[in-house]
Amino acid sequence: MIKIVMFGPQGAGKGTQADRLSRRLNIPHIPTGQMLREEIAADTKLGQKVSEIMKRGELVADWQMNEIIRDRVNAPEYQNGFILDGYPRNVDQAEFLDYQIAVDKVLFLNLPKTEVMKRLSGRLTCPKCGAIFHKVFNPSIAGDKCDRCQTVLQVRADDTPEAIAKRLEQYEEETEPLHEYYLKKGVLIEIDAAPNIEQVGLSIWEALGL
Ligand code: AP5
Repeated sequence: MIKIVMFGPQGAGKGTQADRLSRRLNIPHIPTGQMLREEIAADTKLGQKVSEIMKRGELVADWQMNEIIRDRVNAPEYQNGFILDGYPRNVDQAEFLDYQIAVDKVLFLNLPKTEVMKRLSGRLTCPKCGAIFHKVFNPSIAGDKCDRCQTVLQVRADDTPEAIAKRLEQYEEETEPLHEYYLKKGVLIEIDAAPNIEQVGLSIWEALGL
């Protein structure tokens, strides 16, 4: 039973590594960005509300995210552990999470800003199952279709140069302070996210003592 938070800059590989780890540990992956993209695809009230915000690379309101997370982390199927990917996004969200549950480990995936564009400019994602690929670093077998469900892959609506710049700005202002926050709590583990996907996965496994 382990409750993990993953954070790091855009393109560091949070979604990629959280998906792998959740399969290996057999615990749920809670990817807040992907959950919101599913709301947009299903044209729900929440999806309509957040669609433009996300396209611009801005953050969704804390209260909205806190409500979503509170319902998840307190549900019975999450009591054996989970991996939070994309939440908390700032210190206010982290404090809210602390009121809900005790986080065991926080994985900070550290990637130099110079590498971010290379990762995001080649990303392809599956709109149906959320699987993540990269044209060069992690291509799907068919190139344009998902290996898991054969759906045609898409470029994310927020992987535009303008939205990426905005997301990085938000990361520096809002999310970077989480480093200090979790360091003080003694739960932070820093992972070098620059090597290839396999190597980063191995570093995470070793750092967690698994
Ligand atoms: P979200 O979906 O969480 O996006 P993000 O934080 O911008 O992070 P990314 O998904 O871009 O990067 P990642 O680190 O997951 O990288 P990935 O594994 O895909 O959030 C989207 C939006 O939702 C936010 O902007 C906001 O509007 C909203 N939102 C979500 N949560 C919120 C919250 N809590 N509060 C407020 N708003 C919220 O990898 C990237 C690429 O690199 C892929 O192509 C992958 O194949 C490749 N790759 C991965 N690892 C490697 C490697 N080691 N080597 C080479 N390539 C690699």
